[in-house]
Amino acid sequence: MQPKVCGSAEPPIIEVTGLTKAFGRAPAQRVALRGVDLSVAPGEWVAIVGPSGCGKSTLLHLLAGLDTADSGSVRLAGEEISALSAGRRALARRHRVGLVFQAYNLVPHLTVQANVELGMRVAGTGRRATRARAQELLDLLGLSDVARALPATLSGGQQQRVAIARAAATRPDVLLADEPTGALDSEATGTVVDLLRTENAGGRTVVMVTHDYAVAATADRIIFLRDGKVTDERRPRGLTDRPGMAGVSPTTGTSAAAGSNSGDGSEGPEPAGTDTGTGTGDVDLLGLGSW
Ligand SMILES: Nc1ncnc2c1ncn2[C@@H]1O[C@H](COP(=O)(O)OP(=O)(O)OP(=O)(O)O)[C@@H](O)[C@H]1O
Ligand SMILES: [Mg+2]
Repeated sequence: MQPKVCGSAEPPIIEVTGLTKAFGRAPAQRVALRGVDLSVAPGEWVAIVGPSGCGKSTLLHLLAGLDTADSGSVRLAGEEISALSAGRRALARRHRVGLVFQAYNLVPHLTVQANVELGMRVAGTGRRATRARAQELLDLLGLSDVARALPATLSGGQQQRVAIARAAATRPDVLLADEPTGALDSEATGTVVDLLRTENAGGRTVVMVTHDYAVAATADRIIFLRDGKVTDERRPRGLTDRPGMAGVSPTTGTSAAAGSNSGDGSEGPEPAGTDTGTGTGDVDLLGLGSW
């Protein structure tokens, strides 16, 4: 399985065109997105990178149907979610999307385990399957010891991993992750990347925002966002064994230029497969030095 090539027979699972979003009114208005076009193939793993304030979280929230754009379109599995009512967007999100918020957004009065189980309970998953899936994720992410704790008693890194477990729990078609490793040390980062890779291998499309070039390099494709626009895209093929990636190797990428119409994948770097991925050379290679 794993159709990963945009432009193949399978239509994109995410298709964004002309997306704009501003907050507030002039003269205090902040423009977050200035016309974003983006296409993601089913089963693809995409990293979005860019400077602070360039609109990454805003874009993820619009992909998740948490907010509405000022103009443009977001199609999720062919459904125009920007046209749906808030209630219908919530339903589409529940069925298709798992979102890891940058600020985690855990439910404070629920235990870690209950937070992870929440989406499955809402979806009507049976009690036994819910327990088993939550346990699996808590084990994988090294959280079993804190399963009964409340979020406020956890470290930031632990809370972040709970948020990831919660988003992945329902095995959504699309996993959106906003800085999923931002609060983690290199070992925990490797664990989370491993989990994302497993979920991706299981058929989930992954779109993650990251400031970490080593994490970005594990994706099939890196989208560069700057000042509310997609400015470039790269395929980090051939980069392997990133520090802290627990032996995770990036995939070999896809063969065709992807659907984003604002970057040209064919001009991305094509480093030799023997590149061992050490040091700042990779930053330059990926064009990430200017984040
Ligand atoms: N709810 C909001 N109200 C007002 N302005 C907002 C809101 N959300 C985002 N913005 C503004 O929109 C712009 C983009 O914000 P966004 O959070 O998408 O950036 P980001 O790329 O995720 O940044 P970071 O890397 O720091 O998380 C910023 O200027 C921000 O101040
Ligand atoms: Mg953000």
